[in-house]
Amino acid sequence: MTKDVSRASLSRDAVLLTGKVAIVTGGGAGIGRGIALGLAEFGADIVILDMNAEAAETVAALVREKGRRAQVVVADVTDRDALRAGIEHAAAEMGRLDILVNNVGGTRPIKLVEMTDRQMDRQIDLNLKSIAVGTQTAAKLMIAAGAGGSIINITSIEGLRAAPGYAVYAGCKAGIVNFTRTMALELAEHGIRVNAIAPDIVLTETMARYIPALFTEEGRAAQTRYVPLGRPGNFDDCAGAAVFLASSMSGYITGTTLNVDGGTWASSGWIRNDADGWTLFGK
Ligand SMILES: NC(=O)c1ccc[n+]([C@@H]2O[C@H](COP(=O)([O-])OP(=O)(O)OC[C@H]3O[C@@H](n4cnc5c(N)ncnc54)[C@H](O)[C@@H]3O)[C@@H](O)[C@H]2O)c1
Repeated sequence: MTKDVSRASLSRDAVLLTGKVAIVTGGGAGIGRGIALGLAEFGADIVILDMNAEAAETVAALVREKGRRAQVVVADVTDRDALRAGIEHAAAEMGRLDILVNNVGGTRPIKLVEMTDRQMDRQIDLNLKSIAVGTQTAAKLMIAAGAGGSIINITSIEGLRAAPGYAVYAGCKAGIVNFTRTMALELAEHGIRVNAIAPDIVLTETMARYIPALFTEEGRAAQTRYVPLGRPGNFDDCAGAAVFLASSMSGYITGTTLNVDGGTWASSGWIRNDADGWTLFGK
């Protein structure tokens, strides 16, 4: 009898990351912190690469409390040499590298016509160049090790729709989406998968500083109408997607962007109206 190759041998263990090593950039706070702790919860040893040493050490301690190994690399991802050296050093210290989460990114709202050259360069370095440098460095190590790997890039729903006040950021985030697709092809023959996660609103401390209106009573009420699932995203929402993309549960998935947005990309313009259900542009 011929073997039915369409039948999978999926097991609960497929989601476990035991024995894997993950580097999370910006793992000291916000979404990166959630992802670092989520990957550790499912068995991975974690390297937190962050420019804030204190925040990174705090997360490393939490990872160790889960019984996993943790290491901190203090580096600014916009410093190409420091990022490369940090990834190489961490992989050597931990003995391997299986997962890279290129998470650092961000901006405060500013119109393009008001931007200085320095601000523009800084945004591109932070939101796009660091992802390319990180991916290149990790890919070389993974190719040399010959054990495959998973690279996860954090983009944004702002990379999929127009985002006035965020032009350069949104351009970089859109760039990540196609960079991810392209790298999925370049690295496929090495068994290295490359995917992206696109969050929308996640109420981090940075968001509280940059967009305080999201945290007011009015702002929170607006989110219940604007987000189809009725609430902003949280760290576990992003961590769940990262665990899935890091694990062999997603072994046949590469080049894709997973929207972790409570449905905002799908709704694009449709807003929940308590009286009538869904209305387009709130009317
Ligand atoms: N928060 C949101 O609502 C949201 C929505 C969509 C996409 N995103 C994306 O998610 C990612 C994480 O966002 P967040 O809001 O959780 O971040 P955050 O501002 O909370 O920062 C997370 C960590 O990154 C570190 N960091 C910042 N700049 C760094 C640098 N140059 N080098 C090294 N470390 C650095 C910080 O020290 C901090 O520990 C970003 O790529 C962001 O664009 C966030």
